[in-house]
Amino acid sequence: MGEKEQEVEIIRLLKAGSGYTSGQLLSVSLGVSRTAVWKHITALRNMGYAIEASPSKGYRLREGRPFNGVELQSLLAGRLLGSQVHFFDSLDSTNAKAFELARNGAPEGAVVIAETQTKGKGRIGRKWESPAGMNLYLSIILRPKVAPQGAQGLTFVAAVAAAEAVLANGVKPAVKWPNDILIGGRKTAGILLEMDSEPDRVHFVIAGIGVNLNIKQDSFPEYISQTATSLIEETGSPVDRAVFTANLLASMERWYGVYLSEGFVPVLAAWKGYFASAGRPVKVTFFDKTVTGVCAGVDEDGALLLERDGRIERVLSGDVEAL
Ligand code: BTN
Repeated sequence: MGEKEQEVEIIRLLKAGSGYTSGQLLSVSLGVSRTAVWKHITALRNMGYAIEASPSKGYRLREGRPFNGVELQSLLAGRLLGSQVHFFDSLDSTNAKAFELARNGAPEGAVVIAETQTKGKGRIGRKWESPAGMNLYLSIILRPKVAPQGAQGLTFVAAVAAAEAVLANGVKPAVKWPNDILIGGRKTAGILLEMDSEPDRVHFVIAGIGVNLNIKQDSFPEYISQTATSLIEETGSPVDRAVFTANLLASMERWYGVYLSEGFVPVLAAWKGYFASAGRPVKVTFFDKTVTGVCAGVDEDGALLLERDGRIERVLSGDVEAL
């Protein structure tokens, strides 16, 4: 067990115990000295954990958890997604960092998280607002054994996972094609997939997910203040970011598994459970071209169907707005 794994294990053991956990038990479980345990406790306190120490009884974890890689991994025992957590105070973009790590051989399931992003990337060249200390900025490295076209389905996998993680907080979100997550018509989460591939083989996919969790409405910049929302605004309760992230990764792992073993059909069926635009008038923008019509649903490939002048057109990419 490396140093980091030992810290994760200490947090797991402290959480599992109902009162104090003895230093003896920690040292035996980890196979390290009592002094090494003490050093880890000091490091964990420096990370923001409130750990009480009693010479006769051992250690006890008080309420209030920090958001960091140790906390996340303590909630993710044995899972593929999150098997490696790269946690940063600040990055230009977690997608850019994950791309670089994947290029250098990082395994499937490694995730990158930052407290803040200085150049958070949105879809279609947009920017993703990423203030520090309140939201989630996450990128997941996936290595599906598929052709590039097959990776498109992962857009829907990520959308279903993000929708489920929001639903676990007690509000039902809607998906806006292809993968925005809305609550009451306002955007709560966005997804940006980036891929490295050759014509017939995907090397890796970076699934970047940004979720507005604890940001207050008056902290959004003016230009998105009417169109964005956050979970705290919708539920009235602050979100534990580590718990939210662990739920999201668990959902993502489940739906990724479904996608790999059963294909796109069950993923699309789950996605449709959150899709509310069918039958509604919409405007679709693709680069400098804008078309309006009525949304006629999505086809079996996940393409948006747009009814215009009595004809159905398939839309493969673009930005959709309700009219
Ligand atoms: C969108 O709706 O436009 C997509 C937004 C995606 C934002 C996330 S935040 C984590 C990851 N890193 C980035 O730079 N972008 C994605």
